[in-house]
Amino acid sequence: MIESLKQLRDQALKDLSAVADLEKLDELVLKYFGRKQGLLNSILRSLKNLDERQRKILGQQANEVKIEIWHLIDQRRQSIKKAGKKDFVDLTIDGKNPRLGHLHPITKIRREIEKIFREMGFAVMLGPEIETDYYNFEALNMPAEHPARDMWDTFYIKSEERRAEDGEKLVLRTHISPMQVRVMEKLTPPFSVISSGRVFRHEATDARHEHTWDYTEGFVVDQHVSLSNLKTTLLDFFKQLFGSKTEIKLRSSYFPFTEPSIEIIMGCIFCQKTGCSICGQTGWLEMGGAGMIHPTVFEHAGYPREKYSGFAFGLGIGRVAMLKYDIPDVRLFYQNDHRFLSQF
Ligand code: DAH
Repeated sequence: MIESLKQLRDQALKDLSAVADLEKLDELVLKYFGRKQGLLNSILRSLKNLDERQRKILGQQANEVKIEIWHLIDQRRQSIKKAGKKDFVDLTIDGKNPRLGHLHPITKIRREIEKIFREMGFAVMLGPEIETDYYNFEALNMPAEHPARDMWDTFYIKSEERRAEDGEKLVLRTHISPMQVRVMEKLTPPFSVISSGRVFRHEATDARHEHTWDYTEGFVVDQHVSLSNLKTTLLDFFKQLFGSKTEIKLRSSYFPFTEPSIEIIMGCIFCQKTGCSICGQTGWLEMGGAGMIHPTVFEHAGYPREKYSGFAFGLGIGRVAMLKYDIPDVRLFYQNDHRFLSQF
């Protein structure tokens, strides 16, 4: 009897080490602890044929073996579960779709604007965001102390070390009109160029103003360019952007680098010019500045004063985006709030 208990224990140890999954382990439980055919129970049952003294001794030993095997099975169960957790892949769980990014609405509009002008034959060129005082003002017919400089609330770069190579003062560009002279210095007319990017102004912000915003400048230089060329180019552009019924008007204005200077206004696309809150009941929306390039600007670029003529215009991309997407506050485009941006 003692011998068969020992054998049973050895057999159980061997069986256990061969078991690799829970199903097999359950079979082992049945094999050793099953009520009718379980090996341990049949040993325990045979105890009743022994005399009382032997029954007591063997009964105790059989119980110890029983507890030991039970304990070992339990340990094995834990270790199988633990190992299983690591490799377990539940193929029935839904997969996670990675969240894809998308273009910022301002970038979308900017690309749309560039596409329209490219198709009209404009080249796209980029310029620096940190600009010299010369290109931002002086070359655009605004020498130092010129009162028109006040039209732009400028961020000057204070540091004495951060200056242009020739020691000139630097500013964050307040517009992209400086690209007119930069491009003219490099190219010989005829050419049509647009240049988009960020501009900076030291302004209090409100629903229609930001200190940093996106802007597109365009200009065409050739011989005999006229104001009507400007108007048809802009009208064609706005029709492609806002639909074939779009109307524009040129209203007289002032910029030091154009003569004549105009303001572009567009028939309100929300109320069809009948007057609404978006156009301030006027029926018209201000879209940007434009004009015929001033001879002094040509002179700064090194062109003969009378040889060429050209037109130029500047548009706020945020303004276009507000109208296209019906957004009431330009600042929303620059706050990087995901709840806002994910709509586009
Ligand atoms: N640069 C002007 C601004 O920032 C807009 C502008 C006006 C651009 C007239 C032009 C122009 O090219 O001809 O307000």
